[in-house]
Amino acid sequence: MKVLCANSNRSLAISIATHLNLPLSNANVKRFADKEIFVSIDENVRGQDIFIIQSTSYPANDHLMELLICIDALRRASAKRITAVLPYFGYARQDRKSEGRTPISAKLVANMITTAGADRVLTMDLHAGQIQGFFDIPTDNLFAGPVLREDIRGKYDVKDLVLVSPDVGGVVRTRGIAMRLGADIAIVDKRRPEPGQSKVMNIIGDVRGRKCILVDDIVDSGGTLVGAADALLAQGATEVSAYCSHGVLSNGAAARIAASNLTELVITNSIEQPQKVTSTSNIRQLDIAPLLAEAISRIANEQSVSALFD
Ligand code: R5P
Repeated sequence: MKVLCANSNRSLAISIATHLNLPLSNANVKRFADKEIFVSIDENVRGQDIFIIQSTSYPANDHLMELLICIDALRRASAKRITAVLPYFGYARQDRKSEGRTPISAKLVANMITTAGADRVLTMDLHAGQIQGFFDIPTDNLFAGPVLREDIRGKYDVKDLVLVSPDVGGVVRTRGIAMRLGADIAIVDKRRPEPGQSKVMNIIGDVRGRKCILVDDIVDSGGTLVGAADALLAQGATEVSAYCSHGVLSNGAAARIAASNLTELVITNSIEQPQKVTSTSNIRQLDIAPLLAEAISRIANEQSVSALFD
């Protein structure tokens, strides 16, 4: 087997390869003068089991196109099996026709990855579980839950805690982590007047005098978490932190989190972060390289991936 990466998250790819005791193979991903993507795979991959690691994070269009072109290069170089490893699967938020004349971008991107020549997909915390079914090739959707849970257990006294879903759509995710920790849950009733804006309507559950941890898959503008933290504190919570699988953190999000009432935001390294995020004192990253490396090893050795979460 071989592990290689394009440009989106090289540090995570190096760390995964190290956990697998493999060198990171060479994919040369550059730009022509007009910014078209140039790819060459600089070693023999004929007959190999290939894992190409690439989050389709910002700039999402470039990183998606890099992934597609790498897959095409690997297929034409006669790789035996190509697994697209997307620690963060971007374009997931339009996963249904929420109103007339809107696309289902998640399905389109799934089609593109399949058409490029991927034989399977490995990803983590898809925005909606049903996106797994948008692929007609085997797709493993890992959960960052165990990594988040271990960190929470190490930092907090669980009996003081309430885990909070920042919207109704996230209840299953939050309950999954809370149940395993033995913590209570609460729910924020959030509305989106328009994309990118969120408004807290109500808090469902008792948070008075408790420490709250918001659990979400994505933090993008940070508006959801900052608004939810304010509402929870107004309801008598003593402190609010947040755990999110994917730190999209666009534009001024890091500054918004720094200036917020959140004690801490914990994200994973599914997306490589710029210095403005890594230098923000109340943002911390957890490493998912061991989880991804174990899943890759199990796929390569035809072992169960779901057993990782039993
Ligand atoms: C929404 O359904 C997601 O789970 C996140 O809550 C959302 O993407 C966060 O976005 P923002 O940080 O921009 O409020």
